Amino acid sequence: MTGTLLSDLGQRQQQLLSIIDATPEVDCYRQFHPDLSPLAWHLGHCAFIESYWISDRVLGNDRRTRETEPLYFPELSPKTKRAARMPGKSELLAQAKKDFAKNISLLAEIDKSGQSQALLANGYLLYFLLQHHCQHLETMAQILQQRAYQQDWQSYEARGIDPVEPSGDRITVDASNVEIGNPNEAIAYDNERPVWSTTIDSFGINKRPVSNSEYLGFMRADGYQNKDWWSPRGWHWRQSLAIDAPDHWRQDTDGNWYSLTATGPANLGGDDAVYGISFFEAEAYSHYADGRLPHELEWEMAAARQVIAPDQAWEWCSNHFFPYPGFHPFPYDGYSLPWFDDQHQTLRGASLHTLAPVRRPTFRNFYTPEKRHVFAGVRVAFDLD
Ligand code: AVJ
Ligand code: FE
Repeated sequence: MTGTLLSDLGQRQQQLLSIIDATPEVDCYRQFHPDLSPLAWHLGHCAFIESYWISDRVLGNDRRTRETEPLYFPELSPKTKRAARMPGKSELLAQAKKDFAKNISLLAEIDKSGQSQALLANGYLLYFLLQHHCQHLETMAQILQQRAYQQDWQSYEARGIDPVEPSGDRITVDASNVEIGNPNEAIAYDNERPVWSTTIDSFGINKRPVSNSEYLGFMRADGYQNKDWWSPRGWHWRQSLAIDAPDHWRQDTDGNWYSLTATGPANLGGDDAVYGISFFEAEAYSHYADGRLPHELEWEMAAARQVIAPDQAWEWCSNHFFPYPGFHPFPYDGYSLPWFDDQHQTLRGASLHTLAPVRRPTFRNFYTPEKRHVFAGVRVAFDLD
């Protein structure tokens, strides 16, 4: 088993390297969004995180990462200062390649030596690194998307999409006691544990996330202008930023909407899930559709019944990110604990850029509600009466 996992990790390392390799040096060191580090930092950080957990923590080596800790531990390193402190592209690539290769061979040795530590149980560390890198690969996709907004593209003539009414394709989930969380200790993040049970009331939920055509229907119905659909906080946010379409939506000279992504302008797919919207927009849409956002536990319950599944966009949930009863930070405090701050909303599902190792019904993502760069959309839930 470890053999396959090791080659999976090697593949993710290659993906990280090739993104930097394929990106012009200046763009590797630019910050394209206040929340997003330079692309290059993500490669350095992923190599660092491997070395830190493998050498410093598991093997108790003499601080192989001492020098790079202040740069690559996020909490020690302000985002705006990161680029200036990093080595140039060729040095970074060479160093990361060397670190990656060394880490793969250390992991293979650790596996042979049959060490028993909580960090290694059932391949935990390998799954952890694999998932960690996949999450950073998604963040790098966010960066490449934001970069596209600042590039010059040839003018585009869009096919446009037709607006449609909110979908009525929904299912009813009966009230019941459910098990929440991820029983797989090797794979679960700390915030998915421990498994606990709770009773959830009956509710309705749409089978699919809201599509681009449905979202255009909301826009055409003056969704962005009608205060009634918005929470007071959401309305204030919308007014102060004059938001009136998803982050990456652009309009051609005829007024047809298209999508601007890392690969350039493209037609929107009317049936594809909308993304590029904040929690506030998700909430407004759900009210316009005579519904509400699902609580993340409703989402997980519906997914456990296999009536919904992770799809094409992260889905904003109604609740703040919170610890399950008996939560215990592992393997470090920083992954989840600081974000149980009643400022972060939970998101469920997966985006187009979410890689297989983190695609699962129990996975919990979390961002503050105004974020629009995180490939998040909306699924509508309903009270039954
Ligand atoms: C769970 C996606 C919000 O990117 O900040 C990566 C994941 N944590 N390295 C983030 C994470 C540490 C985290 N998110
Ligand atoms: Fe990280």
